[in-house]
Amino acid sequence: EILIIDFGSQYTQLIARRVRELNVYCEIHPFHNVPEIGENIKGVILSGSPCSVRDEDSPNIDMSAFRGKIPVLGICYGAQLLASKNGGEVKASNTREYGRAKLAEFDKENPLFKDVVLNSQVWMSHGDTITQMPTNSKITASTSSVKVAGFSFENEPTHAIQFHPEVTHSDEGVKILKNFVVGICGCSQTYTAESFVESSVAELKAQLGDDKVVLGLSGGVDSSVAAMLIHKAIGKNLYCIFVDNGLLRKDEFEDVLESYKGLGLNVTGVNAKQRFYDALKGLSDPELKRKAIGKTFIEVFDDEAHKIQDVKWLAQGTIYPDIIESVSVKGPSVTIKSHHNVGGLPDYMKLKIVEPLKLLFKDGVRIVGASLDMPQNILSRHPFPGPGLGIRILGDVTPEKVSILQEVDAIFINGLKEHGLYDDTWQAGAMLLPVQSVGVMGDERTYESVVALRAVTSVDGMTADWAHLPYEFLGEISNRIINKVKGVNRVVYDISSKPPATIEWE
Ligand code: XMP
Repeated sequence: EILIIDFGSQYTQLIARRVRELNVYCEIHPFHNVPEIGENIKGVILSGSPCSVRDEDSPNIDMSAFRGKIPVLGICYGAQLLASKNGGEVKASNTREYGRAKLAEFDKENPLFKDVVLNSQVWMSHGDTITQMPTNSKITASTSSVKVAGFSFENEPTHAIQFHPEVTHSDEGVKILKNFVVGICGCSQTYTAESFVESSVAELKAQLGDDKVVLGLSGGVDSSVAAMLIHKAIGKNLYCIFVDNGLLRKDEFEDVLESYKGLGLNVTGVNAKQRFYDALKGLSDPELKRKAIGKTFIEVFDDEAHKIQDVKWLAQGTIYPDIIESVSVKGPSVTIKSHHNVGGLPDYMKLKIVEPLKLLFKDGVRIVGASLDMPQNILSRHPFPGPGLGIRILGDVTPEKVSILQEVDAIFINGLKEHGLYDDTWQAGAMLLPVQSVGVMGDERTYESVVALRAVTSVDGMTADWAHLPYEFLGEISNRIINKVKGVNRVVYDISSKPPATIEWE
């Protein structure tokens, strides 16, 4: 496997995903907590960083455990660190280089550049440049404006590149990563969905034995794939609980329950709508609403789990981005919203936790799901927040508002599907605003609610752009909503990106 050492770059996870796409297993570890280099580690990649090696407290590591022993690839900051630690010099460049550049020259003999095409595009993103070469090294690549776009050390398999091979804007990036991981490190490309399923099922069998496991299904991809995997390992000893919190999409509870049963899962559907509505009564502050929903969920789940005799384990659909130890080099991160499904269970449940997807990225989860023959309508689902429509009804939540928003949301989502736009958007939904506006229908004055439609494109939900949906489509959906949904007389479209706006309004 490959060890990726993270110095805080926004692209670190992308490096890992590209390596995984080459069917090579890799893990990300923060620079301040590098694991011991065991025999299984065939190579090390040093990531980029928002810092400059010239900064006083810039992230640094001792490389003696692996330098010269196994291959190393420094990318961007990683390259500059290799330079500055070995007698090279890094300075702020006169022209900060961001964006596209051409690989004007490279060393064709260097295995890192095997079969790479001259003048292919590479993606630069740095403000520093290497002005003096480190000792015992030679330049391996240049662009028209950056002389040292790549260098390698003599007599050891340590390579460095200034550009980012992991982003799609680098035409030959995947080839360069493959040259490193497969060619130079000698990793075999055997990490596939099938191999993952096979080894996970074996591990789960050994870990769980005849124990009973409980799992909360949400209708989303992660919990569903986790359930299928555990089901494959222990069959009927997996007890799934699917809670109707009264804040799901229209018909979602029934539809999803059906498809779970179709997959052979042992699922109990729990209608807990009223408990949630009671808990939400009179609350209009977003954080209080989230907390009330989270707390009620745990209570309901706990009641159900207690009905299962001798349950020992709680399974969760945690995925790799949830557990990667984050590197915060530019100040502490703040809590923007409290996500109720992170943080888990009250101690008194005393269950052991099993998280079969905790080493997978989202795309990996989907691929594993597909290899388990799960239906596309589950695998390609948009993300949906745990607190559901509760945080899309601004202000206080009532069953009447929920049913208005369910109708609006269904028209929007079905419209996206009919027009082939669903898969092009990362997430979509509607917000019911606590605003009444004046309208006219027939000869009558109306004074009704406003809804906002929100659709975004994104890779991971951390940043997002508003989806540029066609005007004709938006017009048609607006008409349908106003004509069909009683209580709504105005539709607006949210054109804010994240940041500074978030995807959900609360
Ligand atoms: P924001 O609104 O923070 O949302 O831009 C980013 C992504 O997270 C989802 N989201 C949640 N998911 N529990 C969840 O499971 C939550 O409490 C929660 N809040 C937001 C949101 O739908 C989007 O996909």
